Amino acid sequence: TTTLKQAYANDFLVGTAVNDDIVSGKDAPSQALVLKHFNAITLENAMKVEVVHPLPDQWDFKAADAFVDFGQKHHMFIVGHTLVWHNQTPDWFFEDAAGKPLPSKQLAERMRQYIEKVAGRYAGRVDSWDVVNEQIGDDGNYRDTTWVRGIGDGDELMRLAFSNAARYAPDTELYYNDFNAWRPAKVAGIVRMVKMLKAHGIRIDGVGMQGHWGLDYPSLEDIKAAIDAYAAAGVKVSITELDVDVLPLTKEGQIIGQGMTHPQFQLPEFKKFLDPYRDGLPAAVQQQLTDRYAELFALFHRERDKLERVSVWGVTDDMSWKNGYPIPDRTNYPLLFDRHHQPKPALDAVLAVP
Ligand code: XIL
Repeated sequence: TTTLKQAYANDFLVGTAVNDDIVSGKDAPSQALVLKHFNAITLENAMKVEVVHPLPDQWDFKAADAFVDFGQKHHMFIVGHTLVWHNQTPDWFFEDAAGKPLPSKQLAERMRQYIEKVAGRYAGRVDSWDVVNEQIGDDGNYRDTTWVRGIGDGDELMRLAFSNAARYAPDTELYYNDFNAWRPAKVAGIVRMVKMLKAHGIRIDGVGMQGHWGLDYPSLEDIKAAIDAYAAAGVKVSITELDVDVLPLTKEGQIIGQGMTHPQFQLPEFKKFLDPYRDGLPAAVQQQLTDRYAELFALFHRERDKLERVSVWGVTDDMSWKNGYPIPDRTNYPLLFDRHHQPKPALDAVLAVP
């Protein structure tokens, strides 16, 4: 029987997000699947600022240390996720003791200290850092985030983040990671940013396309054009958080329609509409999911010279964040293994590609 890492051994690394239960072995069946199929791992949540540095005088590296130990023990490619992000970062990080926004110089110094402490702790052990996550918008301009506002200038934010990461994690690959990184205007904005860093002599090694996609978006053409554009800008490319949403009421990752909190949406009929596959996935949708995974990996296989890694965002369907996002409490089927740790038809299709 082939495994994912064997099937793609000549193409790219095949990774997955893991959680604390997988690392500890509490979820032994999922851990076994990780060891069998994958040669790269990303910690889904516990390397984020809210876990590592929840309060100004508090640091907690327990889960992150266990993750890095696990990856090293099993000779896996270890991805650190993530240093500079506005989500899952406590508000105090951006504020002074009185709760006022920190002046940009002080926020820059706080960032430096954080990167020194966290990237420095794992220097030489983490193989790749998602240095900056999700700071560029669909239009290619910087978003209005606590980081961009706090530093006051998006390019300066990138220069600070990547130069600090290069200083404290000299032997680690440095990535910019984002969703919708296939939209042409956003691709152009990311490429511009990559060239800006290079023009300043600041190291950036790769762009991560998260890959939170659906059955019918994005098009293979858009994905290919994005991979090619990043590669042409002189960086590696990875698909970092792949999953395929099979549920309705979202389009291109956005909720369709307004007023989802209206009481009528709590009625059983509507719940069923929102969560249509709670008793199982119809064969026709299972087939669509299988075909989608097959066409995506066929594209990745053709693009293998430009891709360093393809990682899925979780092992079994029940652990996926897509059961709760963007609409809470649904039953989604976005991954390659089912709720009983069994391989799905999509896995067989992916294994058959190369
Ligand atoms: C998600 C996790 O999967 C969830 O468990 C958590 O509640 C929220 O974050 N982009 C990213 C990831 O870079 O860190 C996010 O992970 C998904 C979107």
